[in-house]
Formats: sequence, C-alpha cells, structure tokens
Amino acid sequence: MPQTPYVIDEMISAKSIAARIEVLAREIATEFHGTDQLVVIGLLRGSFVFIADLVRELDLPVEVDFLEASSYGNAMESSREVRILKDIRGQIEGRDVLVVEDIVDTGHTLSQVIQFLSTRHPARLRTIALLDKPARREVDIVADWTGFEIPDEFVVGYGIDFAQRNRNLPYIGKVSFTDNAG
Ligand code: IMP
Ligand code: MG
Repeated sequence: MPQTPYVIDEMISAKSIAARIEVLAREIATEFHGTDQLVVIGLLRGSFVFIADLVRELDLPVEVDFLEASSYGNAMESSREVRILKDIRGQIEGRDVLVVEDIVDTGHTLSQVIQFLSTRHPARLRTIALLDKPARREVDIVADWTGFEIPDEFVVGYGIDFAQRNRNLPYIGKVSFTDNAG
C-alpha cells in the first residue's frame, strides 16, 4: 500500500511512560482502595498497550474488559457522532469502573463513551488517558488521570497508530511528513 513518507521522532520515552504509570497506578489504587473488583475498560484499539502496563502496576483486584468506539466526522465536526462497535462483556451496574483511553483529542470519544456507560449506573466511573491534547478540545472534558499533556502534534507508538501502523513502537513518537524520509 503506498504511503506518504514520514519520519518518527521520539517524544516520550518508554522509560518515562513506565515511570509515569507507576505514579498513576498508586493514585488509582488509593482512589479505589477497598473496591471489591475494579472493572478496567480499555478503549480499542489504541489503549491495548497502556492498559496492559497499567493493570500490571495496579495493586488491586481488577477485571479487564474492552469497548470499541468509532467516530464519524459530520460536516459539523463539533457534532461528531461516536458509535459503539463492540460493547463490553461484563456487567457494571453498581460497580467501580475505570475507562482507559489512549488520547483525548477533541474529547468527543471519551465524553460519549462516558454517557454510554453511565446509563448502566456504575457506582463510580473514572477515566484515565495516557495523552491529552488540550489545544484540540471541542468538548469540555478532562480525564480524571492523564499521563502526559502534549502539544497539537500527530503521535504514534505504544498502541497508537497512523493508518494501523506503528502501534508496536515502545515509545510515543511524533510524526513528521517529508518527501525524502528514510
Ligand atoms: P477524540 O478525543 O474523540 O477526538 O478522539 C480521540 C481519538 O482520536 C484517540 O483515541 C485516537 O484514536 C485518535 N487520535 C487523536 N490524536 C491522535 C494522534 O495524534 N495519533 C493517533 N491517533 C489519534
Ligand atoms: Mg482511540
């Protein structure tokens, strides 16, 4: 498949991500101390690496589930519709839930996923995003925990893709388009 040439420059190292996750996991374990079994819900596909590392740092009984949402741009970007392509398997009514997202960008995905899950009446519904691009926000939402705030750049790696590529990079890299890459 022909691809626009691009280069990837490291923005956040694997080591920095691991160190940040240790801190976040301690905060989350404190917040959910005493919870019988926390339901950790990863948003597919971008969060799969993050959720894998996060749950292994969490000193709590957890259940892992996945939800897949897909957004479709309307002519009006700000009324973007998010569709649920794959629902979670478990029950969350009356339970503590942590939604794990890769990036909060415009905010439409996370806000609509929260609305969707809220209708099932979880006891507590909290959110964590590895990355946040506040400059791009269209919906007034912020995750309860954020790994790193980043500028308005297109990033890949650590689960995050560009046209399904580069999810397997162990770090977060910034994409730059160029005619004479590589
Ligand atoms: P939003 O917050 O609804 O705009 O969408 C967030 C989703 O857009 C993320 O879960 C990613 O799948 C995707 N996304 C946003 N920024 C980037 C990026 O820099 N690289 C790759 N995917 C991105
Ligand atoms: Mg995503």
